[in-house]
Amino acid sequence: MVLPIRKKGDPILRRVALPVLKITREMDALIENMLETMYAAEGVGLAAPQVGIGCRAIVVDVGQGPVALFNPEIIHATGSVTEREGCLSIPGVFGMVPRAERVLVRGLDRHGEETRIEASGLFSRALQHEIDHLDGILFIDKAREIMEGK
Ligand code: NI
Repeated sequence: MVLPIRKKGDPILRRVALPVLKITREMDALIENMLETMYAAEGVGLAAPQVGIGCRAIVVDVGQGPVALFNPEIIHATGSVTEREGCLSIPGVFGMVPRAERVLVRGLDRHGEETRIEASGLFSRALQHEIDHLDGILFIDKAREIMEGK
């Protein structure tokens, strides 16, 4: 099911999301709906607060297949790279955002298993962007330059 995406100004985007304690059937359905919503909007990532759910769940697909994580945490980060970034919650706005080049992220997968993901490039950027959403942080808070466009 494609869910409506909350836009900038919606208070849920500024709240710190709560940890997921148990991977229930509802949580799995949430991931499914988030993926559908992300693909329909042609995004590469989505965080649960963007669909109005204040829990620590994210999905990312930068072209290598869907990745879903609960309670994701960056446990190691190296390098720095500044690239153009946008957000489905802030349509028509882009910014140059400095991010770590490579990250090691820990979290729970869809089955509740502890997992670690090493990422670089766009995958790394998307993970950092979505994890920020769980702490009420938007890319415009970190952008060095903001521009309008497509
Ligand atoms: Ni976003």
